[in-house]
Amino acid sequence: MAELVLGIETSCDETSAAVLSVQDGRPSLRSLVILSQDVHRIFGGVVPELASRAHLRTIGPVVDRALAEAGASREALTGIAATAGPGLIGPLLVGFTYGKTMAWRRELPFIAVHHLEGHLFAPTLEHPDLAPPFVALLVSGGHTMLLHVPEWGRYDLLGQTRDDAAGEAFDKVAALLKLGYPGGPVIERLAREGNPGRFRFPRPLLGGPASQRFEFSFSGLKTAVLRAVQQSDNLERDTNDLARGFQDAALEVLAEKTRAAVEETGAGTVVLRGGVACNAALAASVGRSVGQSVRVVTATPRLNTDNAAMIAAAGAWRLAQGERSGWDAEARDNLPFPGLSIARSQDHEITR
Ligand code: KG4
Ligand code: ZN
Repeated sequence: MAELVLGIETSCDETSAAVLSVQDGRPSLRSLVILSQDVHRIFGGVVPELASRAHLRTIGPVVDRALAEAGASREALTGIAATAGPGLIGPLLVGFTYGKTMAWRRELPFIAVHHLEGHLFAPTLEHPDLAPPFVALLVSGGHTMLLHVPEWGRYDLLGQTRDDAAGEAFDKVAALLKLGYPGGPVIERLAREGNPGRFRFPRPLLGGPASQRFEFSFSGLKTAVLRAVQQSDNLERDTNDLARGFQDAALEVLAEKTRAAVEETGAGTVVLRGGVACNAALAASVGRSVGQSVRVVTATPRLNTDNAAMIAAAGAWRLAQGERSGWDAEARDNLPFPGLSIARSQDHEITR
């Protein structure tokens, strides 16, 4: 029998709902609605309280629209999955409570999903043959993690960032260059026009001791860009070159560490996940580093950034394992990653 799972995602500034049908373990996306909140643009970043209020207004219509686009009634659903964390607690509570209440009213199986596990499942919607083992580079506005995934549900953390996340670095550099928020897409576009030879920024934690092989740090790179911006006598003229210099440095670090992870684990597949995986130059750079014998998989931009289809996919897998979340399950801003084990010594906390 086909399963029909409703997914809900409200961990940050996207209100999203999706309907996924699963037949014989094969997922098929029936609908995906993503409503991005515009209000944060004028503040240069997400304002949690405004995000919560916007989710409250739109969650009902977004879920209704996803069901309508899928041609599915509420009665036809066989399960509901909602993001339980990590993320902003106010926004999380809106979607999580909505999903849990809807499941409770209809006595449907309910599953709380970890946002990052959702990101890992996203490419299975477009590449049904994608299966572990693989190396995953998870690069978003809140996370930078290098993982080895030996099987679904088991995630070995090879390394992560010590300070800023990769997407956060793109956003902060864009702010320095007065390019607005989010910074990734505009930096990628301007970098294409930029001269790669003008600004050579540091490649943090590259070529250091083995203990740093899979660790990242982006705050020093951002400071180096800040200094170059302060020294520029014509920022308008230099913007494209600065964007290029920054992007080349950030991508080289990401690609080289991913290559090292492939070497260490012997994985034949690399999965690029999170908003920064929308960057076409990242996929090209990783492809060059790991060589042609390694498959590099990403997803279309709509599935790379935050969306409910990935939550439905991860939730459907957990429901198929027989897992259920109780009615006392709660959303948590710092929800632990289920199945995460720390593969090497980590002397700092897991970042959100
Ligand atoms: O995964 P995501 O939608 O949200 C979370 O942070 O969970 O990622 C958003 C991040 C932002 O920092 C944004 O600047 C970055 O992804 N991003 C990009 C690109 N598109 C989005 N970074 C680099 N290049 C892009 N094309
Ligand atoms: Zn995300």
